[in-house]
Amino acid sequence: MKVFDSVSDYANSRSGIEGPIGFVPTMGALHSGHESLIVRSIEENQTTVVSIYVNPTQFDNENDLAVYPETLAQDQKTLETLGVDVLVRPTYDQIYGDGFRYQVSENLFSQELCGAHRDGHFTGVLTVVMKLLNIVRPQKAYFGEKDYQQYQLISDMAGAFFLDVEIVPCPIVRESDGLALSSRNLNLDRCARAKAPLIHKLITNTPSDLKVSEALSKAGFDVDYVETRHGRRFVAAKIGENPVVRLIDNVPVAM
Ligand code: PAJ
Repeated sequence: MKVFDSVSDYANSRSGIEGPIGFVPTMGALHSGHESLIVRSIEENQTTVVSIYVNPTQFDNENDLAVYPETLAQDQKTLETLGVDVLVRPTYDQIYGDGFRYQVSENLFSQELCGAHRDGHFTGVLTVVMKLLNIVRPQKAYFGEKDYQQYQLISDMAGAFFLDVEIVPCPIVRESDGLALSSRNLNLDRCARAKAPLIHKLITNTPSDLKVSEALSKAGFDVDYVETRHGRRFVAAKIGENPVVRLIDNVPVAM
């Protein structure tokens, strides 16, 4: 695996990379959810590029950024084992040489669900994904349905800006107890981890959004939202102390 710590070094060798290129952007702390996207890219492309970059502009909460897990040495081994061809690890200065003066924002769906609770989050996501797509220049880019709103906004952005890339959605990978895999699960203490699978259980088995919300609150979650729209039920809720961990999930629902 070739490792690029410099975006310009990657750009200089881009023309020598054999296409089609599949791209999986991540913030590291890799788990089987990330791995499923990478395996899919390896199956469908000649070359797979993964990026690891913890993007500060998408964190609306300083503490969430401060405790975001980093497992770089382990991640690198995982990527080698999977057979990834290229790892790109940009720095803040490379990505935000403009001081974040230029931003990509969306002004409708990005204000709903997570956007209503995380100020500026999707502007940070869309801006960094636009930059990463322009750096890597893949034919296909893979995103998990775990972050369904993120996937939808990125897919729509690619359409709106005529980006020459296919945005590929990938199914949610879960623990055997139903908890959606997430890098943030590493921050769950034992009590919070024991309660966390309740989210998936309730959103799949409870008839109304309100009842899901009430049951989660009763179990000790601080619920941001439970909402059904576009044939999916979405939830975000916080659990645990020190750190507080925000979990999100979604499932398709019969309308
Ligand atoms: P990160 O949370 O590291 O996730 C990277 C990719 O893995 C995203 O597309 C996410 O949806 C997917 N993913 C995470 N958990 C998953 C699971 N349990 N099942 C399937 N896919 C899963 O999402 C981000 O990073 C960032 O916002 C990023 C797109 C890299 C921009 O900074």
